[in-house]
Amino acid sequence: MKLKRVLKWTAGAIAFALSVAALTAYWTSTNDCDSRHAATPRNPMKAVVYCDYGAPEVLAVEDIEKPVPNDDQLLVRVRAAAVNPLDWHFMRGTPYIGRLGMGLRKPEVTRLGVDYAGTVEAVGRNVTQFKPGDEVFGGRTGAFAQYVTVRADRAVVLKPANLTFEQAAAVPVAAITALQGIRDKGHLRTGQRVLINGASGGVGTFAVQIAKAFGAHVTGVCSTRNVELVRSIGADDVVDYTREDFTKGARRYDLIVDNVGNHSLSDLKRVLEPNGTYVMVGGPAGRWIDPLPRALSLLVASRFGSQEMRMFLAELNQKDLTVLRDLLAAGKVTPVIDRRYPLSEAREAVRYLETGRARGKVVITMD
Ligand SMILES: NC(=O)c1ccc[n+]([C@@H]2O[C@H](COP(=O)([O-])OP(=O)(O)OC[C@H]3O[C@@H](n4cnc5c(N)ncnc54)[C@H](OP(=O)(O)O)[C@@H]3O)[C@@H](O)[C@H]2O)c1
Repeated sequence: MKLKRVLKWTAGAIAFALSVAALTAYWTSTNDCDSRHAATPRNPMKAVVYCDYGAPEVLAVEDIEKPVPNDDQLLVRVRAAAVNPLDWHFMRGTPYIGRLGMGLRKPEVTRLGVDYAGTVEAVGRNVTQFKPGDEVFGGRTGAFAQYVTVRADRAVVLKPANLTFEQAAAVPVAAITALQGIRDKGHLRTGQRVLINGASGGVGTFAVQIAKAFGAHVTGVCSTRNVELVRSIGADDVVDYTREDFTKGARRYDLIVDNVGNHSLSDLKRVLEPNGTYVMVGGPAGRWIDPLPRALSLLVASRFGSQEMRMFLAELNQKDLTVLRDLLAAGKVTPVIDRRYPLSEAREAVRYLETGRARGKVVITMD
């Protein structure tokens, strides 16, 4: 009886302490907005910043201090940037579970954007592989800005001459995701059948082309208005999801790359070959913890039978950007750009991507 009471009080005390710690962490969560607004930048540049989580209205284009490269960095004058779903996840602070890393009450990092392409303006003294004037593209937090500094050994490579800055900016996150999903998680081989669910979006338009470059037979799934687009980038077959459910068909696939996550795992397993692989790139987007439950279900589903059920988070790196650069330079992959917005309309660019109806990539231009 006494032990029971002690356990009860201990559990209560722990729960109370955790609640106080969580509330304190929440209310003390802060960022650099106040200090930035208190000082006038000496060497200003324009950048998209946000001080609170929310709808695109939280985004503002402000004058902030132009960055200075350290010994290992390049200073890049950004000519174009591209928008990805991760940008609006950061802007909204969703799913909420992600705020454990992003900042509980306010975003810890107040700059937005990752994908960029531009011209090297200066290099640190340890940098040998790039020089001023080089045209480059890559990924760096805070890319919705006139300048970024990037480490020379990170996600940055020379831009192929046959690409515009806008096309190059469209590449990094979406194309690396497609490449890693198809090659590293999907182990796609020549002659295999792959289905890309969500073939007309940012990741999908790269996935169709990369899978074709790997010699696969590609089926793209999209809505009626995007059928011609998906065919034009190389899909052998196109399934219009408004008319046909690919999980009810007779065809089997060696690999399914899923950018949408709108079918049950049992339906997907049914149209996978016995040794086929399902790769979840995108899943249902909810406010709290999605797509975690689906990711956990994948783990369980993988335990039964010979089919592989996987999810992954893409990793931006120089090696894979180089693979992509070669595919782009050879004309095997060409970025599809839907809309372009000037930096001053970055809000509108993010708002459009959030509709989930983009056809290829949405690009922000600096000039
Ligand atoms: N795992 C990772 O590391 C990683 C990396 C990047 C992105 N992602 C995730 O992958 C997903 C796709 O990213 P994205 O950049 O391609 O997004 P996106 O460009 O916003 O995707 C828009 C496209 O999705 C299509 N779509 C919407 N509903 C569909 C459905 N029911 N069936 C087929 N297509 C549908 C739309 O075509 P219609 O208008 O024709 O429907 C549109 O073309 C997102 O959830 C993103 O968060 C994950």
